[in-house]
Amino acid sequence: MSTTLTLRRPDDWHLHLRDGAMLKAVLPETARHFARAIIMPNLVPPVVTGAQAAAYRDRIMAALPDGMAFRPLMTLYMTEDTNPDDVAAAHASGLVTAVKLYPAGATTNSASGVRDFAKVQRVLDRMAEIGMPLCVHGEVTNHDVDIFDREAVFIDRVLDPMRRRTPGLRVVMEHVTTRDGVQYAQAGGPDLGATITTHHLIINRNHILAGGIRPHYYCLPVAKREEHRLALRAAVTSGDPTFFLGTDSAPHVDALKEHSCGCAGCFTATNTMSILAEVFEQEGALDRLESFASLHGPAFYRLPPNEDHITLQKGAPVAYPARIDTGDGPVTVFDPLMPLHWRVA
Ligand code: NCD
Ligand code: ZN
Repeated sequence: MSTTLTLRRPDDWHLHLRDGAMLKAVLPETARHFARAIIMPNLVPPVVTGAQAAAYRDRIMAALPDGMAFRPLMTLYMTEDTNPDDVAAAHASGLVTAVKLYPAGATTNSASGVRDFAKVQRVLDRMAEIGMPLCVHGEVTNHDVDIFDREAVFIDRVLDPMRRRTPGLRVVMEHVTTRDGVQYAQAGGPDLGATITTHHLIINRNHILAGGIRPHYYCLPVAKREEHRLALRAAVTSGDPTFFLGTDSAPHVDALKEHSCGCAGCFTATNTMSILAEVFEQEGALDRLESFASLHGPAFYRLPPNEDHITLQKGAPVAYPARIDTGDGPVTVFDPLMPLHWRVA
């Protein structure tokens, strides 16, 4: 039984870094292990223009501790007023990698997202023309659709019609949480990718609700039934290049998680690689961790994989901090409810 595993340095294809004191505290947690990340634009106010993306990128680089290397891959937050020429120019200059689509009201800071999809068709057409990826938060927001069904309903009502209307559009289904999402992604051909988070490989909805309410397991899309968690584990270990890592590490201070109306988001940047190694080992698929965490993502985004490597070592359980301190207050690190034996050397 091998006790070390060397892989190309991984990337995180869906990450929330926030801003200010929180950015400064959480960025090293990601940069320690990951070379690049797709940076979510749901700040307040959102990152809508190329100029805002450039300023945010500069704040991220200024927050990076000396001696650490990291490349933020910036995204623009799509609104109903997004201009196709601005998007194309920001992409052509190399400033912006992708556009993020939030249905209005779907999640944290998504109020400026899209209500009427006809209004963004010209942007989608242009993105299809230039091959620029669209990262999609795939949940409907209708109050008459049960929260556990919102992903599956989004595929039928919104995503599939949008892809049919926009031939050639390259789409990433962000953080899929259901067997329905996995199956749709698998059948979607080379222009469709899907990210899967670390925490959705660990928890099902019982972890949030059974025996007491556990706010640190509440995120969006919300964790589903066990059968869906198992479908996600099968997808990530299948070797199918459709699926790649997007942690959706989404820090909120504990005071806002442990609240009468707690924020959605799990903070997994700190221990993600240890958790993934444990999961892939449990599934007998350690040899496929590199493709999921380090190869399939760059291939979809048409970027080279990282040149350097990380080594994971198996040994006595690794002690991660229960929370990290930020200038805004403590942030609880995701508890995977099992000992983690793999550490990044
Ligand atoms: C994210 C956040 O907090 O910004 N929360 C989450 O539960 N994943 C938003 C998102 O990606 O939906
Ligand atoms: Zn997210």
